[in-house]
Amino acid sequence: MDATTDIRSTPAPAPTPATALAGAADGLPADFLWGVATSSYQIEGAVQEDGRTPSIWDTFCRVPGAVVDGDNGDIACDHYHRMPEDVAMIADLGVDAYRFSVAWPRVQPGGRGPANARGLAFYDRLVDQLLDKGVLPWITLYHWDLPQELEDAGGWPERDTAHRFADYSELVMDALGDRVRHWTTLNEPWCSAMLGYDQGHHAPGRKHFPDAMKAVHHLLLGHGLAAQRLRAAAPQPIQLGITLNMGNSYPASDHPADVDAARRADGLGARIYLDPLVHGRYPADVVADLARRGAELPVQDGDLEAIATPLDLLGVNYYSSHVFSGLPEDGEAAPAADGEPFSRLVKQDLPVTAMGWDIIPRGLTDLLTRLGRDYPGLPLYITENGAAFDDTADADGSVQDDDRTAYFADHIRAVAAARTAGADVRGYFAWSLMDNFEWAFGYDKRFGLVRVDYDTQRRTPKQSALWFRDTIRESRTRQ
Ligand code: NOJ
Repeated sequence: MDATTDIRSTPAPAPTPATALAGAADGLPADFLWGVATSSYQIEGAVQEDGRTPSIWDTFCRVPGAVVDGDNGDIACDHYHRMPEDVAMIADLGVDAYRFSVAWPRVQPGGRGPANARGLAFYDRLVDQLLDKGVLPWITLYHWDLPQELEDAGGWPERDTAHRFADYSELVMDALGDRVRHWTTLNEPWCSAMLGYDQGHHAPGRKHFPDAMKAVHHLLLGHGLAAQRLRAAAPQPIQLGITLNMGNSYPASDHPADVDAARRADGLGARIYLDPLVHGRYPADVVADLARRGAELPVQDGDLEAIATPLDLLGVNYYSSHVFSGLPEDGEAAPAADGEPFSRLVKQDLPVTAMGWDIIPRGLTDLLTRLGRDYPGLPLYITENGAAFDDTADADGSVQDDDRTAYFADHIRAVAAARTAGADVRGYFAWSLMDNFEWAFGYDKRFGLVRVDYDTQRRTPKQSALWFRDTIRESRTRQ
């Protein structure tokens, strides 16, 4: 961690003045890819239609207290029934690509066996309609909706789940590979493993650190096995990737305890995924940290070769960055609990989003430059970036969301700065196309470019959507 990545001295940025919203995409090339993103459980609804079986999120939403207001994805944005109008809305934004996920329990109910033709038919129509409107489909195969039957059989801590994922991935390739060229295996395996199996904030709601580490390895193995099968089954050349959520982990000071806290956070948050994917090995310091905590990555012969199947691109989901300290606030050394040395997040004096996440565009520049330096040769795409704010809608549904627009503008500028610094960033997907089911926060948090009125399902583009559309248009005409 060198001094140039230290944000302790960075003053809180002033709110972005309206003029700074212009020209946010300056410096990005004419062939830069612009898109919007969603995921199946967050928007589709129709959870019992056409043979779909329950996912771990259908189950988790029924656990009292698991999701704010007891919300669930039963209806969500009703996208399953409104897909054509949603595709028209996507096309109206002028984007090049739409990143969406396929619901595993829809296309392979129960997570094993043959494909369900009725479930696949939905994605078949979606792909055709996107292509018809000149929008590239970017498929994510797993955005957290594991078939409940597979969780009942042990879930991601169980090795067999990786094999089931590879089978499922091939079914989707067989059905859509003639038209879809961009394939992502997993979305944010950190969230699946840590929020799902360690912290219990996400489905399936388990809290067992050693199991979470088994989940990390089996998610990566599932990715690798699927990557091999997808390449073998693809009827045309494909672009294959995985999407990781990352921020920068900054040490609060040069004190060795702070530097070590940042190292550990970066190890479990980023390098535990990046190193095996790119270099074919787990980082030795992380393996040693895990051993101290009584956990291990259950690697078998051949696993790391599969996990390191060459990638065409890396998807980066960026929302915020964090500053870590290994010292308690009083500066006294604290004993390690459970083999895990003390660590705490140091809250920065920065503006936050409605999620309470610090707004740190510079962290995105630092992250992308670091990825370019430590993992060279891998094209980078921002597969998610965006913000929840407490929107106020006018009677006609319109929202003057200057805060969200400023967030987008500042982060797009941060991407351009990373390119200038040498990072090979080739595209940017805004999260999200529309307000949707924000996991444990239910419908309380809104990330959309488009407002969704959940009583009527009316969609209304917010000011940020119009700004995004104009920014894309300008970035193309200026070149
Ligand atoms: C990342 C996840 O992929 C997405 O599902 C979620 O809604 C956003 N972060 C915002 O929290």
